[in-house]
Amino acid sequence: MPQDNSCCRVAYSCHRKRSSKVKKCACCWLSFVTLVSLLSLCWMYICLVMFNDRDDVNWRGFEVLKRWVNWFMAMVIISAVLTVYCVLLLLFALFQVALREPLNLHWLHKIFLFFGVIFITFGVTGISLKWPQEWLTVPVSLQATAPFLQFGAVGALTLLSLFVFQGFHTAKGKWSKFLIAVVFVVLSAAIFLCPLIIESPCLIEWTDLPEKPKLIGHRGAPMLAPENTMMSFERSITCGVIAFETDVQLSKERIPFLMHDQKKGFLKRTTNVKDKFPDEDFSHSANLTWEELQRLNAGESFLKTDPFRSVSQLSEEEKETARNQTIPSLDQLLVLAKQHNISVIFDLYSPNQENDTVDIVNTILSSGIDQSLILWLPPAGREYVNTTAPGFIQVYNNKSELLNKGGNHLNVKYSNLRTKEIREFRSSNISVNLWVVNERWLFSLLWCAGASSVTTNSCHLLKDLEEPDWVMAPRKYTIIWITVDIVSIMIMTGLYIFYRKTHCFSHRKGKEKKREITSAWNEKELSPFLATR
Ligand SMILES: *[C@@H]1O[C@H](CO)[C@@H](O)[C@H](O)[C@H]1NC(C)=O
Ligand SMILES: *[C@@H]1O[C@H](CO)[C@@H](O)[C@H](O)[C@H]1NC(C)=O
Ligand SMILES: *[C@@H]1O[C@H](CO)[C@@H](O)[C@H](O)[C@H]1NC(C)=O
Ligand SMILES: *[C@@H]1O[C@H](CO)[C@@H](O)[C@H](O)[C@H]1NC(C)=O
Ligand SMILES: *[C@@H]1O[C@H](CO)[C@@H](O)[C@H](O)[C@H]1NC(C)=O
Repeated sequence: MPQDNSCCRVAYSCHRKRSSKVKKCACCWLSFVTLVSLLSLCWMYICLVMFNDRDDVNWRGFEVLKRWVNWFMAMVIISAVLTVYCVLLLLFALFQVALREPLNLHWLHKIFLFFGVIFITFGVTGISLKWPQEWLTVPVSLQATAPFLQFGAVGALTLLSLFVFQGFHTAKGKWSKFLIAVVFVVLSAAIFLCPLIIESPCLIEWTDLPEKPKLIGHRGAPMLAPENTMMSFERSITCGVIAFETDVQLSKERIPFLMHDQKKGFLKRTTNVKDKFPDEDFSHSANLTWEELQRLNAGESFLKTDPFRSVSQLSEEEKETARNQTIPSLDQLLVLAKQHNISVIFDLYSPNQENDTVDIVNTILSSGIDQSLILWLPPAGREYVNTTAPGFIQVYNNKSELLNKGGNHLNVKYSNLRTKEIREFRSSNISVNLWVVNERWLFSLLWCAGASSVTTNSCHLLKDLEEPDWVMAPRKYTIIWITVDIVSIMIMTGLYIFYRKTHCFSHRKGKEKKREITSAWNEKELSPFLATR
């Protein structure tokens, strides 16, 4: 269309007067703003999906610093501010481009953007170095979000197509035009067709939806009461948990008690050991007698640090009870479990597991609890346990070990099993428990996948969930995404035709007028926001 082309060239020439160097620079900055915005959106997404494991981040921070700080919350807030800022900047920049204004970023914005890039780089490096397995959460989350992200991407693409058409028209030379066209077509095809590779356990018929996973209280109900205290386990009973999850260690006189942290400063996070024994630095559970452990308060630190930002939901009476908690013994927990017919599953982190196993098994057997209520997890003393207490249910935390030993209870981190594996295990009657599942989206996903049970911090939230967040029949999804794609293509075609018409029309007939409008815009508020001049 030579006629159109010439008209567009005329249109371009009227902007040519501005130095091409400035224009090139502005184009670079626009690309930079776009890039940082996309980066910050991705980073925000990562933060949000890792929210499920926020307690883990803060605990790791505590391990290093020996001080409780809600690192995760700080990171989320900074990331959210950064994301909102970048996206606003991008919107204004695009707006300005749409008005054919040169983009002169203020130096402050440039500095902030660089700060953002550095912040995200630090975050990504930190996770990769200290917590690499957490990256697996991202593909898991995509199973829940991908269909909706695709709809969002199609919407964004449709809007942005207008800028692409503009760029295409104003581009100099055949090669730049060709490049813009190819990149746009490839990107659009990828976005339009990616549902072909989207897999989600929730893309199933309602009739195929498995039974709701049972709940296991992770150290009780740690959002409603101090972790690993009797109050916490009692609260979890009201959620209808099928098992108490806890951690066992042995005191000096070999009484098993419940405490998660180990090694140096193992009592510091959850008890007032600093006040009671200011001069001692305990590094091993056997450093203290049961009588000494009993003197520690295991509830005040929960009220003080508010690790889940949930203390405000507690009544005054509950706070009073929380303030009065002590470290429980395994025996106390077994009494409660026996009374309510609830199972017990625990971790044993001791360096001398086989030795501890003997004392723990003795404690369990002498408590008189039904052996089938004990879910035995520690791998070290499994042989001994099998002969001494054959009624215990053997739970494996390793797929290959489970298959080797012919077990039928598996307990692994939620990101370590793919949907296909969960379904295979379940169809061979192997029960699958996944830890630690706190957020609804994750619980919904694992519900669709068919997990038998999950270990959770938030049993009070998950117990009320009556159905997964979403379930869609595969055929219905296919119809929806194809429709969305077609509508988008139609809108884009319309925009393209509209753009070409108005673009050339305005320059053929109203070149002068247009220039007036543009210079009028120069004076408006928009420019000072972005421009130094
Ligand atoms: C605690 O126990 C460890 C290992 O048994 C021992 O090395 C350390 O000296 C003990 N510390 C105290 C304060 O008793
Ligand atoms: C706190 O515990 C002590 C001893 O265990 C008990 O005497 C007291 O009544 C408890 N207070 C509350 C408010 O539960
Ligand atoms: C305990 O619960 C199990 C199922 O979890 C059930 O089969 C059993 O009958 C219950 N026992 C008692 C004494 O209620
Ligand atoms: C599971 O056990 C096998 C040997 O039985 C071992 O090679 C593998 O490293 C274990 N995997 C994990 C995650 O512990
Ligand atoms: C699983 O259990 C069901 C019911 O208890 C039984 O019908 C089925 O044959 C079992 N499947 C396998 C693979 O053992």
